[in-house]
Amino acid sequence: MGITSTMKRVRDSVLSKERSREDLKIGIAGFYDRSSKLWEDVWGEHMHHGYYVPEDRTDHIQAQIDLIDEVLKWANVTEATSVVDVGCGIGGSSRHIARKFGCQARGITLSPYQANRGNELAKEQGLSDSTSFQVADALDQPFGDNSFDLVWSLESGEHMPDKKKFVDELFRVAMPGGRIIIVTWCHRDLEEGETGLSKKEEKLLAKINRAYYLPRWCSVQDYVDLLEAKGAKDIKREDWSYIIAPFWKAVIKSSLNLRSVWGLMRSGFSTVRGAYAMLLMLRGFKVGLIKFGLITCTKPTS
Ligand SMILES: C[S@@+](CC[C@H](N)C(=O)[O-])C[C@H]1O[C@@H](n2cnc3c(N)ncnc32)[C@H](O)[C@@H]1O
Repeated sequence: MGITSTMKRVRDSVLSKERSREDLKIGIAGFYDRSSKLWEDVWGEHMHHGYYVPEDRTDHIQAQIDLIDEVLKWANVTEATSVVDVGCGIGGSSRHIARKFGCQARGITLSPYQANRGNELAKEQGLSDSTSFQVADALDQPFGDNSFDLVWSLESGEHMPDKKKFVDELFRVAMPGGRIIIVTWCHRDLEEGETGLSKKEEKLLAKINRAYYLPRWCSVQDYVDLLEAKGAKDIKREDWSYIIAPFWKAVIKSSLNLRSVWGLMRSGFSTVRGAYAMLLMLRGFKVGLIKFGLITCTKPTS
């Protein structure tokens, strides 16, 4: 990389400049290619928050698995035959759901490392026949219309630069009568009369966006509006920010042990910056700006 483009990157970082869609796509793939091994070494196969009820529980990996089960319970999903895991990480949710319901699951991610690792783990866990992972864009999914009775997206929506296209694609690949579940970071709903977030709030989110390769945020209400516009049925929403709150503290603590610090250094600048941004996330949750939102609905049968 030339000195001019390095300087531009440093300047954009300092100014927390919004990335273009193309830069985001390349950046997300690279970020997860570089950081997923370290995450798996420290935290295992689930790259998402845990379910902290009771709030002082310390079995963090089980808390992550419980989050999947509790979300399914909340959305009244008791069975599925074919699942798409949109933004699948290394496939933890897909494999868990495939085992739980004895169903097929397909996962998509932008990161070649993650897709490859997802398939390796499927093989190791004897799930190669029921789960598979590939590199594909959630905004242009390689699946036909009406393909899945469960469309699952856990902590990937925040990466999507076009929320309408994202929802359109989730809706398109869902079977009529199928369930769509989106669990994602959102900003708070706007109050009546507000046209946007405050400058201070925007500034905090812009710093987080640089670190985690995120585009502009939206609120849970924005998702509900998009789903309503598509004619979705049984739309339900919930804020689980208080349920996942202890997770960040646990991650920050885990990143302070020697193995993690060494791993961080080796994973490069963007992973180190990602670790720093955890503090910003904590602040965002604390002041009620950042929400851990759950949204679910059914695709109508006609
Ligand atoms: C925080 S990880 C969550 C992974 C997984 N859902 C889990 O809970 O273990 C975010 C994931 O979203 C994926 N992602 C982000 N933007 C995407 C896009 N446009 N298309 C497909 N995957 C995307 C990333 O590659 C990554 O796998």
